[in-house]
Amino acid sequence: MTKLFQSAITESGPIECLGQAFPNDAARREHFSKLLAEKLKDLEFRKIDGFPIGSDEDILTLSDPPYFTACPNPFIENFVEHYGTPYDPSFPYNKEPFAADVSEGKNDPIYNAHSYHTKVPHKAIMRYILHYTKPGDIVFDGFCGTGMAGVAAQLCGDRTTVEEMGYRVDDSGNVLTPNPDVAGSAWKEFSVLGARRCIANDLSPFAGFIASRYNDFSSEDYDMSSPLDEILDVSPNVRSLYTTHGPKGNADAAIEYVVWSEVFSCPGCQHETSLYEFAIAPGSSELRETFTCPSCGKELEKSDLGSVWTSVIDIDGRGFLKERKTIPVEIVATISNKIARFAPTEFDLQLIRSADALPLVDVPNAAFPHGRQTRKIKSGSGIEKIHQMFTRRSLQMISPAWKSAQEAASTRKGRVALFLLSGALTLISKRERYRDGSGKGSQSGTLYVPSLQVEKNPFDVIDRKRRSFARLPLSTSSAMCSVTVGSHTDVRIVPDNSVDYIFTDPPFGESLQYSELNFFHEAWLSVRTKMESDCVLNYVHSKGIPFYQSTMKRSFAEAYRILKPGRWITVEFSNTQASLWNVIQVALQEAGFVVANVSALDKKQGSFNSVTTTTSVKQDLVISAYKPNGGLEERFAKMMGSEDSVWDFVRTHLRYLPSVRLKAGRLDFIAERDPRIIFDRMIAWFVRHNAPVPLSTQEFQQGLRGHFVERDGMVFLTDQVLEYDKKRAQVAQAPQMELFVLDERSAIDWLTDLLKKRPSTYQELSPEFMAQLGAGWKKHESRPELSSLLEDNFIQYDGTGEVPSQIHSYLSTNHKDLRGLSKDNPFLVAKATDRWYVPDPNKAQDLEKKREKALLKEFETYQAATGRRLKEFRLEVLRAGFKAAWAAKDYKAIISIAQKVPEEALQEDEKLLLWYDQALTRTEAGD
Ligand SMILES: C[S@@+](CC[C@H](N)C(=O)[O-])C[C@H]1O[C@@H](n2cnc3c(N)ncnc32)[C@H](O)[C@@H]1O
Repeated sequence: MTKLFQSAITESGPIECLGQAFPNDAARREHFSKLLAEKLKDLEFRKIDGFPIGSDEDILTLSDPPYFTACPNPFIENFVEHYGTPYDPSFPYNKEPFAADVSEGKNDPIYNAHSYHTKVPHKAIMRYILHYTKPGDIVFDGFCGTGMAGVAAQLCGDRTTVEEMGYRVDDSGNVLTPNPDVAGSAWKEFSVLGARRCIANDLSPFAGFIASRYNDFSSEDYDMSSPLDEILDVSPNVRSLYTTHGPKGNADAAIEYVVWSEVFSCPGCQHETSLYEFAIAPGSSELRETFTCPSCGKELEKSDLGSVWTSVIDIDGRGFLKERKTIPVEIVATISNKIARFAPTEFDLQLIRSADALPLVDVPNAAFPHGRQTRKIKSGSGIEKIHQMFTRRSLQMISPAWKSAQEAASTRKGRVALFLLSGALTLISKRERYRDGSGKGSQSGTLYVPSLQVEKNPFDVIDRKRRSFARLPLSTSSAMCSVTVGSHTDVRIVPDNSVDYIFTDPPFGESLQYSELNFFHEAWLSVRTKMESDCVLNYVHSKGIPFYQSTMKRSFAEAYRILKPGRWITVEFSNTQASLWNVIQVALQEAGFVVANVSALDKKQGSFNSVTTTTSVKQDLVISAYKPNGGLEERFAKMMGSEDSVWDFVRTHLRYLPSVRLKAGRLDFIAERDPRIIFDRMIAWFVRHNAPVPLSTQEFQQGLRGHFVERDGMVFLTDQVLEYDKKRAQVAQAPQMELFVLDERSAIDWLTDLLKKRPSTYQELSPEFMAQLGAGWKKHESRPELSSLLEDNFIQYDGTGEVPSQIHSYLSTNHKDLRGLSKDNPFLVAKATDRWYVPDPNKAQDLEKKREKALLKEFETYQAATGRRLKEFRLEVLRAGFKAAWAAKDYKAIISIAQKVPEEALQEDEKLLLWYDQALTRTEAGD
């Protein structure tokens, strides 16, 4: 990698920061720390959502202002003023939605250097930043975690990294991408090489700290010749606690690690011994599923064993803590160049006892908060306090080193040491598992303390981490990335319309409890996450989907406010629950964004496909949405939500969509150009602007045809269709939309697509239709009869009168013997009889009216139903009912029906969720 930025470990010499000159870096920090200290006294400032928990002093110690503050960063305004460009509506900006693999680069050493519960690799984010921005632009990530978006923004200026990713950089600094589409032209322009800036926000001070360090990184800082030892080696005597004399007492070596085992009792004879002795056969390292008691010979499994508890004196000496009894069972050391594993000798045990007897200083005396993850370690291992996650011996090393790094945190070397220690903390805790003869790391996403633990030599761990940091091909500068800590729901420190692009990876829901997990580090950092604002599902904290939804909605409202009009937001989401995905989509649209593409990673092909429905299968999903430029909003207000504003919306929206998309040389169907999806987007836009939708589905479909051009089931603007036609002429096959039949609506869509291509009889349709009604069918949705779907939505030719042109053209193109026959030819009539077909627009409108009437009638029966809950229902009935109630401003009707249907049915349906949430909002607003 090219060295982009100079390390400042020496910190001498004049520097410039946000336009101000300072004699040296210490003066810079002192100046901004004073300003921050003033700000911390401001009560209003401390009221910002998600303001972390910590004293002024601790916040100031952890911060490195103006680049990073362990609280909302009051200097971001200056950052934007100094480096940003004001929004200019006349600036030509025209980008299409973009989706690339979000997991690319997971083996990268930069990604792996400092672990976190989940990360998007910087190389994956770089593709997005390169696509949407130019050098110097400002990128924002409000759920930044370890700040990979900042690293990505900076490395867009690093030629080596950009080239490693398969791009080429020409002499003028243009980034070129392979162009397989045009014969003879191997590369096409994609972007411009050059670093971008970033504003990175996270609720967690620990995340903010990691982000600040990743974005101010120089490998030289970790070089073995750098002055870190002064900070880290504060307790040289402690090294001797990690020595051994070997199994025979004749060696003098450093311990690599010690295996500790929980003690259990045999339910048969009450014999107490370690799990290690119970379940690992002598001479082997394998943990057996079944084993016999060494005392009475009873056949046992781990779950049969009884726990053995012990009491330890608390570090403040004020009381006792009850915890599971553990004992050292194996020492591992390199003796005479060979790995030796042996049972602890009296020397080893004596060393542990002497470490236990030493006083503990500067260890945080912090009790784990009540929570979902913390509850497990409390009941499972009896661990109440943070220090119980470490052996007393490792605390002898980590506490003084941490303290001295904290004391030196106003200097670069202090911050560097703290980063190193925080990267090593889990590795030297009891969370490290032992399995099959070696350490297996900690169980990610939990605070789990295993029955067989590995106590690593902390000096080795830190040395190794330091060497790996020293080898990292990473060079970043704090001046490029402003890091701030607080809730995304309130980023008032970022000015309106100031950000050029947003990439974000929101919390997943319930699998990761960030604030509980981060407490492990934050107890040491002395500044903690405001747990109430952690955007997760957590039954212990009574946080359900409504909490998640409202936090997302408020966060996206802030994202909308700070993004420049006409610019894009990319939301990456590792989906495990379709309902959360819908919550995110709805929240985006309620904030004012317009969704322009939803893609899912096809793990087998490694490529992204546009999707219209999400499943509950774990998928990486990417939403691309834009903030429409001011013109659309103003025109909408003027036209008062009339029919003209429908076409204005569609015209503006189509402009944001790609005209042609190729995949492996073939034309890809652009789902967002499908009239049905455009209709949904239009509805969301109207609902968000509190305006009734002035057109029915059929009127909309008909109007679309009048205002725009349709090709292969997709809608285009006239100038866009030229580009599409050109490409279409070169390929034999029209692109196909892949439809999944999951409910009545998608069943109708599927039938429409099929009957458009091939008018068919009931007998022909029936087996194909049955095959579509597979496992994905929505849980509470009644299964419709094919016959009633056909009756309600299509027309059957009964053999009287002329053969309808839809059937005529199908038969004459596909059957040689029917070619050229007139519409009343008896042979043709016989072949056409009983076939179902898609009605022409006028007839379709009549059918729609009839169907809507029937749906609303059924909705009335739902309203009248006396039981508290509707178990099975038709989503189409709910949609029609909600739509009508919305138009009549009868929000109560929506809310009362919503309360009768299972929550997940609403949450899994984007349209219902939108109407319901807006009905709640309107009711709260007293409308
Ligand atoms: C999926 S992780 C992001 C990881 C990040 N993309 C990375 O590369 O490291 C989600 C983050 O959201 C943060 N978070 C949770 N609730 C939040 C809130 N209300 N405001 C801001 N951040 C929040 C969590 O602390 C967590 O770091």
